[in-house]
Amino acid sequence: MHGKFITLEGIDGAGKTTHLAWLAGFIKERGIKAVVTREPGGTTIGEKLRALLLDKNEAMHLETEALLMFAARREHLDKVITPALARGDWVLCDRFTDATFAYQGSGRGVDWARLCILEQWVQAGLQPDLTLLFDVAPEVGRQRAGSIKAPDRFELERHDFFERVRDGYLRRARESATRMRVIDAGTPVEQIQRELRQIMEPLCR
Ligand code: TYD
Repeated sequence: MHGKFITLEGIDGAGKTTHLAWLAGFIKERGIKAVVTREPGGTTIGEKLRALLLDKNEAMHLETEALLMFAARREHLDKVITPALARGDWVLCDRFTDATFAYQGSGRGVDWARLCILEQWVQAGLQPDLTLLFDVAPEVGRQRAGSIKAPDRFELERHDFFERVRDGYLRRARESATRMRVIDAGTPVEQIQRELRQIMEPLCR
């Protein structure tokens, strides 16, 4: 038996953290075991790479950034995601490969086709069963993210970077329309939870 692999995506400040916690509770209530994890990170090596990637004092080549994201992902798949799914557990992951297309591809300008090659190499065809894309205007995201904690290397980027990241996510959603669900993250939390309930209930049966 295989568990379900669900990823959450969106620009910084889109509300993923709140919705991830709610989804974890929703799944648990139904007696399903879920591993909650994040990218970059989720393993010892992955968390070290995360610290490097988010360090605002560490400038790096755009392709180095993309390769490190996939290196962390390779480790995450091997140590956490694949074993959990094989046990029949579900995996709830805060960001995955769509983030690399959005941030490193659209945001930074890494060639989309190169990212497709890395995706195929690292994932060998494995894709999430469902990806929830929390879509919000960058100015709203910035206001929310800014009030929570000190900005990391990505959060320090300018407005037009986040416009491109948002466009990249929407492009991925168009290209993977059956896997990805776009949720208007500008609406009140209760409304989003109603929508999430409708999406999740059939999956839990
Ligand atoms: P995020 O998930 O927003 O964590 P926090 O809530 O602690 O800020 O931070 C991770 C950052 O990493 C985010 O700005 C997006 C970036 N990122 C990429 O650029 N590419 C990727 O492939 C992934 C997974 C994340």
